[in-house]
Amino acid sequence: MTQQTWNAQQYINHASFVPQLANPVLDLLNPKSGETILDLGCGDGALTLKISEAGATVQGIDSSESMIEMAQQRGLAAEVGSGENLQFNRQFDAVFSNAALHWMPDYHAVINGVNRALKDKGRFVGEFGGQGNIGALIEAMQTVFAQHPEYGEFKHPWFFPSASEYQQALEARGFQVNYMELIPRPTPLKTGVREWLKIFARQITQDLNQEQKETFYQEAEMLLKPVLYSEKEGWVADYVRLRFAAFKG
Ligand code: BEZ
Repeated sequence: MTQQTWNAQQYINHASFVPQLANPVLDLLNPKSGETILDLGCGDGALTLKISEAGATVQGIDSSESMIEMAQQRGLAAEVGSGENLQFNRQFDAVFSNAALHWMPDYHAVINGVNRALKDKGRFVGEFGGQGNIGALIEAMQTVFAQHPEYGEFKHPWFFPSASEYQQALEARGFQVNYMELIPRPTPLKTGVREWLKIFARQITQDLNQEQKETFYQEAEMLLKPVLYSEKEGWVADYVRLRFAAFKG
């Protein structure tokens, strides 16, 4: 599977709910003036900016050039890089990550890199998709693929661990876990499920031609309507967050 690609403007237009819903994990991070913080998977820098407004010195890193350009336009220190191959050494008081770690399936490499990047007693605070996240969305996409064998094998790129699995992975690499919670968080999709699929299912549809992609969006939307849509609330995605805070022991 090739890498997910991002278009920062499309993300801002249709997925700005992602940073907008991040207050609980920002509160958990509790950034302080004078701290140095790494924002891992910083995207367009919306949260990196908030952390810097608290007085911390923040460095953003993201695998997408388009996102990093947007973060730099906000005046942030941000660089292109892989979370699975972090090259920092004992320089951060905290590593923060929102809605990014599920895109990094080599989580052992991520946790090792975070551990190296932190000073002693530094903290790793984050939130990402946990066990059961977007279950209905995945099932619908899988069903469409099953109905069209010509689309090839259905594979998705995400890693959605249980709380115990992630806690064990952190502890095995020298972290002490203070907080770990799996939180169902139904998430309104104001611009609809089709836009969500266009942004987030890009790797899944990468080998389909334009006509096949259209059919994929249409059929997935049809399957999902009875499950995720209501007249009253519109489209609401079945998100489940795994929120955590751990210290380098
Ligand atoms: C999430 O934030 O949980 C998520 C978003 C897009 C694709 C997969 C997961």
